[in-house]
Amino acid sequence: EVPSLYKEYEDYFLMGAAVNPLTIKSQKELIIKHFNSLTAENEMKFESLQPEEGTFTFDQADQLLSFANDYGKKVRGHTLVWHNQTPDWVFTNKNGNSVDRYTLLERMKTHISTVMERYKGQIYSWDVVNEAVSDSGANLLRDSKWKDIVGEDFIDKAFEYAHLADPNASLFYNDYNESNPEKREKIYSLTKGLVERGVPIHGIGLQAHWNLYSPTLDHIRTAIERYASLGLQIHITEMDVSVFGSDDKRTDVKVPTEEMVAKQTDRYNSFFELLREYSDVITSVTFWGAADDYTWLDNFPVRGRKNWPLLFNEHHQPKGSFWKVINR
Ligand code: XIL
Repeated sequence: EVPSLYKEYEDYFLMGAAVNPLTIKSQKELIIKHFNSLTAENEMKFESLQPEEGTFTFDQADQLLSFANDYGKKVRGHTLVWHNQTPDWVFTNKNGNSVDRYTLLERMKTHISTVMERYKGQIYSWDVVNEAVSDSGANLLRDSKWKDIVGEDFIDKAFEYAHLADPNASLFYNDYNESNPEKREKIYSLTKGLVERGVPIHGIGLQAHWNLYSPTLDHIRTAIERYASLGLQIHITEMDVSVFGSDDKRTDVKVPTEEMVAKQTDRYNSFFELLREYSDVITSVTFWGAADDYTWLDNFPVRGRKNWPLLFNEHHQPKGSFWKVINR
């Protein structure tokens, strides 16, 4: 009998998975058994919830919520303000020109409050702002329409609107390459500024799209300690462990080699050893998917290249990594 992942981790943190309308059917049993927190992979993004101004389409998000309610799962909200998967209308007026700061802030507020009020009390944490920090170079923030039109304080505003809409939800800043030293310091200084200005932020989300070689355990540890030093909670929000290194663009690998699998198992083992050490600050760990039959990495960074980044295989059976993760 395979033990339940989330039950094995009850003393540490929530164990979540990103799901979508297809996987809550095709992976239903697996999801119910192993995960106690669910994130919508795409269905709560701006383009999904408000494809046109004032037209809110909640059907798929509602279906996820009702699935979660039926099976007693918590839900993480993802995501309110992001440069991707946000429709052009948000930044454009009727003449096709850019809107002004005031209009964009109104639209941001309307979106955040409509969405968060609808799901008030049903979503324990929200990724309020996603991926705003630049990966390299001198600028703290990446260029985006949010930043260009509103200014750098678009982040403060998003958190303020979110806190007004659902004062009980914990509010997160979420990003990738979060353990890279250069980006880590930018994320740190951004969130430190928010805390110092009294902006209602409660946590930092580490996406944790990791692979066989990167990031190093030391870099992950330093990132966790640095972020935790701000007195914020930490969530691992989108974990997966690619069997390819960062620069490996091969497309001819049809099954992972034994070496890849062994390395992945070893990485998962050390990652969770480390995460357990920090279970006082890490309150939730979410995988970006449940089993290897469906992963966004099949189309990223190389379209159509299969990957095997999760704890369960294509037949929903536990991999060696699973046994390491629960074998504390
Ligand atoms: C990805 C989804 O998994 C894909 O289905 C979609 O096509 C693109 O977005 N960082 C994030 C997530 O914050 O929202 C992204 O999800 C993966 C990277």
